[in-house]
Amino acid sequence: MGDERGGAAGTDPELGTAARAVRERAYAPYSRFKVGAALRTAGGVVHVGCNVENVAYPEGTCAEAGAIAAMVAAGETEIAALHVVANAPEPVPPCGGCRQKIAEFAGPDVTVTLATLAGAERVMSVSELLPGAFGRGHMEGA
Ligand code: THU
Repeated sequence: MGDERGGAAGTDPELGTAARAVRERAYAPYSRFKVGAALRTAGGVVHVGCNVENVAYPEGTCAEAGAIAAMVAAGETEIAALHVVANAPEPVPPCGGCRQKIAEFAGPDVTVTLATLAGAERVMSVSELLPGAFGRGHMEGA
């Protein structure tokens, strides 16, 4: 099975590098918890995002949301792989809202790699992240 971009676990080394780099630019003065996300589109392009907090806390946005917005702004809507990194004791899972945002643009088998700065990684599929996801099919007949 030839995937030139990753190994058997589906990891994509370039995404890890990009996520770590963009994490440095996170704006997180309130939580001090910087997160970086990098995705590869079906077309092969890499987009990145970092969390951007706000003094009105609920207005802050997650790293994953930033990367997704960059992808859509660039004209693509299909995620082939996603990598999220933070400086945490263990790989940090995306928040519930981000799981739904990811599922909008990634099929159930797409690989999401959760990583720490220290190098720990946990690889999950989108369906593992969001089992029983609400999707378009649930609105049929509306
Ligand atoms: N955060 C992300 O950007 N992505 C995640 O997957 C988890 C949490 C951000 C939101 C907030 O700026 C900070 O981390 C603390 O929750």
